[in-house]
Amino acid sequence: MTDELTGRVAFVTGAARGIGLSVATALNQRGADVALADVDLPALETATRSLGDGALAVEADVSRQDDVRRAIERTVEHFGGLDILVNNAGICPLRGFADVTEEEWDRVLDINLKGAFFCCQVALPHIQKSGERGRVVNISSVAGQSGGVLAPIHYSASKAGLIVMTKTLARMLAPDRATANCVAPGTTATDLTDAWAEELRERVRAAIPLGRLGRPEEIAEAVCFLVSDKAAFVTGATLDINGGLFIR
Ligand SMILES: NC(=O)c1ccc[n+]([C@@H]2O[C@H](COP(=O)([O-])OP(=O)(O)OC[C@H]3O[C@@H](n4cnc5c(N)ncnc54)[C@H](O)[C@@H]3O)[C@@H](O)[C@H]2O)c1
Repeated sequence: MTDELTGRVAFVTGAARGIGLSVATALNQRGADVALADVDLPALETATRSLGDGALAVEADVSRQDDVRRAIERTVEHFGGLDILVNNAGICPLRGFADVTEEEWDRVLDINLKGAFFCCQVALPHIQKSGERGRVVNISSVAGQSGGVLAPIHYSASKAGLIVMTKTLARMLAPDRATANCVAPGTTATDLTDAWAEELRERVRAAIPLGRLGRPEEIAEAVCFLVSDKAAFVTGATLDINGGLFIR
């Protein structure tokens, strides 16, 4: 427990479980007030209760502009501002190239990329007002950097889009001394990867030079660094947390 983020307000999407919940927990343990946003209300309420004081559950489907606006406005009203946005909500349907339907392409891009854009659109004025405490962190993926056999094409495209969107945001926020960065996890042990067949998970594990899947807490540590004062001069960057799965 530290208080390095005391007085800051964070909004984390996809926070009911997995990486999002680890991020929300880590920010809260460092003193931040945190709004946890998710579509899965029962899981969201349980997750929010697991945090300390200063946690707020806000139900929102990030692909719906009205939901996003309502959730962020509620956060600002409740906590009195917004300094940190973590765009983490995402889905990754494992689908072969030929089997991706137009509907599924749209759903993946709507949640993973358009959802992050909607959140930025509503949150940015508040983050700009926060000045040098203002932070955007987008959770991309190794799939958005190197593609790869396993990563479905719509998922990879959405995650690559997040990386370039972050660079644009970094330039937009710079005059206010606020920053925007990406974290690109490699395969990380969450419900998302637990849903895979054991054989598939083992194949991926074997391809990771450090010989194991990542842990959600390790992704959360990277986010905590990027939102801290220590990272005030880091912007437009993508931080790789992948056990060597992709080395630049
Ligand atoms: N787990 C991995 O191996 C891995 C690797 C690289 C990147 N990522 C990325 O990290 C992020 C989190 O992944 P995870 O493994 O924790 O996933 P997860 O499936 O465990 O959790 C994702 C959460 O997002 C929520 N969500 C889904 N659609 C939503 C929507 N429309 N609006 C709001 N919330 C929504 C879900 O309800 C869930 O609580 C995702 O963006 C994912 O692409 C994960």
